[in-house]
Amino acid sequence: MGFQAVEDPDAFRASSRGRWEEAAGGWAAAREAFQRAAAPVSRWLVEAIGPQPGQTVLELAAGPGDTGLLAAERLRPGGKLISTDGATAMVEVARARAEELGLTEIVEARPMEVEWIDMEAATVDAVLCRWGYMLVPDPETALRETRRVLKPGGRVAFAVWDAVARNPWSMGRRIVDLGFEEPSPPHTPGPFALGDRDLVRELLYGAGWTDDILIEPLDFAFTAADADAWWAQQLDCSLALKGLVAKLSPAEHYRLRDAVDADLEQYVQPDGTLRIPARTLVISATA
Ligand SMILES: C[S@@+](CC[C@H](N)C(=O)[O-])C[C@H]1O[C@@H](n2cnc3c(N)ncnc32)[C@H](O)[C@@H]1O
Repeated sequence: MGFQAVEDPDAFRASSRGRWEEAAGGWAAAREAFQRAAAPVSRWLVEAIGPQPGQTVLELAAGPGDTGLLAAERLRPGGKLISTDGATAMVEVARARAEELGLTEIVEARPMEVEWIDMEAATVDAVLCRWGYMLVPDPETALRETRRVLKPGGRVAFAVWDAVARNPWSMGRRIVDLGFEEPSPPHTPGPFALGDRDLVRELLYGAGWTDDILIEPLDFAFTAADADAWWAQQLDCSLALKGLVAKLSPAEHYRLRDAVDADLEQYVQPDGTLRIPARTLVISATA
């Protein structure tokens, strides 16, 4: 089955952007822990594009910007990272991080939509995107746009979450099981919408990508001090979860918390901390 259109893409985009604007503060606060856990993914992506001094690299849906900033260090002298996100508050988080790392002189942070890359054709050497393409109503257009701005022979490297069953950190399934939300139709925009290698390949082909396509799974783990810390971080980073929890009665809230705690039990380490498995697909291709 191909990627499914959403009923009103413009309304979807507007509400998604609003949620990400609001979530930026939570993402900034969780940045360090999140990046520590997800660093193997950033490293895979950066190795896949092989950044060189003098090159221009574009990061899409960069959020706090860590993956692109890892590449930026390798673009000196003379290179440039264009770090972008649809939410201006996220762009500010990435800009602040570039400043902290002393990389401002080679980092340009600016708002940009994944589906409308407002850049000239054939102007960048590589594109990075960690956990962005599956969130938009039209990922094929986003991948076609990506190919358009790459110079011939340029590389894209991106990550999308594998199927939800491989990602027990997500509370989404539990929320549906408890009847607090309807399941989203398969292959509509959302964290797990592209957790299917055949679908990713189909979208890449549809967007004109044919060369050097590599799609592989990558396992890593999220860590947290305990279930309370994990719960608080999830609420801060997901406005969808926060909105849902705000609508629950106190009894329903406790029922969800108890179920999530029971799910997490198996991931408690001997020292009491949590280590929750995660699996992403990592993908690269040549324009
Ligand atoms: C799951 S976060 C990933 C952030 C970052 N890439 C990382 O791995 O830490 C998704 C990001 O995509 C951005 N985003 C969502 N829809 C977008 C769109 N249509 N265009 C550009 N950015 C978008 C959000 O603002 C958010 O920062």
